[in-house]
Amino acid sequence: MNSTLSVAVISGKGGVGKSNIALNLAYALNTMQHKVLLLDCDLGLASLDVLLGISTEETVENLLEGDVPASRVALQIDTHLSLIPAASGSYSLGDSEPALQSLFLERLNPFAAEFKYLFMDAGAGIGGSVQLFSAMAALRVVVVTPEPTSLTDGYAVMKVLASSYGIRDFFVLINQADSVKEGESAYLRLAASCEKFLSFRPLQLGIVRSDEQLTEAVRQQKPLLRYAPDAPAAKDLAAIAARIHKLHGEMARRLTPGIALRKPERRMGV
Ligand SMILES: Nc1ncnc2c1ncn2[C@@H]1O[C@H](COP(=O)(O)OP(=O)(O)OP(=O)(O)O)[C@@H](O)[C@H]1O
Ligand SMILES: [Mg+2]
Repeated sequence: MNSTLSVAVISGKGGVGKSNIALNLAYALNTMQHKVLLLDCDLGLASLDVLLGISTEETVENLLEGDVPASRVALQIDTHLSLIPAASGSYSLGDSEPALQSLFLERLNPFAAEFKYLFMDAGAGIGGSVQLFSAMAALRVVVVTPEPTSLTDGYAVMKVLASSYGIRDFFVLINQADSVKEGESAYLRLAASCEKFLSFRPLQLGIVRSDEQLTEAVRQQKPLLRYAPDAPAAKDLAAIAARIHKLHGEMARRLTPGIALRKPERRMGV
């Protein structure tokens, strides 16, 4: 059995591009012939189904409520890509972290472990469920844009995870950069703040340029990598997917086959 690399895509600030990034990285790895499961973790505020132009009856909420097995909730999107969508406008579990944790580990882990990659598109903010998905994943991608407000929120999400779960390893992805240079300087500012105030330095995963064709792909309800594979942002995303694949190889010894999501340990007293 192969090991699964689980990746949580998080941001702090909303609307920075998490869902499009999770979708296109998953799609890119699928075109590289790897089995990928994409999980909409924005419980109650689904968006991946909309980005793909599909409608669905059964969602991750049904899976968590126990009526439907993961194999029935998952939809095949492409040859090697499956999606577990979320519901829009209804969610009864609220933010009850211990309940969510055991439900995810019990009901999702065995199914997800059959995939080589699990991408979790978390909602915006730093609420309990976002923290939980981040802590269960093997790799955390913090998406920021070069805007100061987004950098501040990206910093905040890392600070909260460091104090609640003791997590200190993060990858930063700069999205909507006007140029590679602007993206680099935004990363350096964020990394310097982390180093100064949190005593760790997040790694740079990559830079995705601002690209009108991504907005058009959203309108057309197709992944950018399918709609315009030669667009600048599509090339950036494909390069980041290749980097993640390389990281999977490098992390292989730290991953346990059969366990896609690990049991997180909350720090005492927080
Ligand atoms: N690289 C980019 N170039 C141009 N526009 C972009 C880019 N990335 C994201 N956008 C724009 O930002 C919008 C929001 O993206 P997306 O829905 O992926 O963000 P999100 O972080 O998932 O939002 P939420 O926090 O609401 O879940 C997209 O519809 C698109 O218009
Ligand atoms: Mg989203």
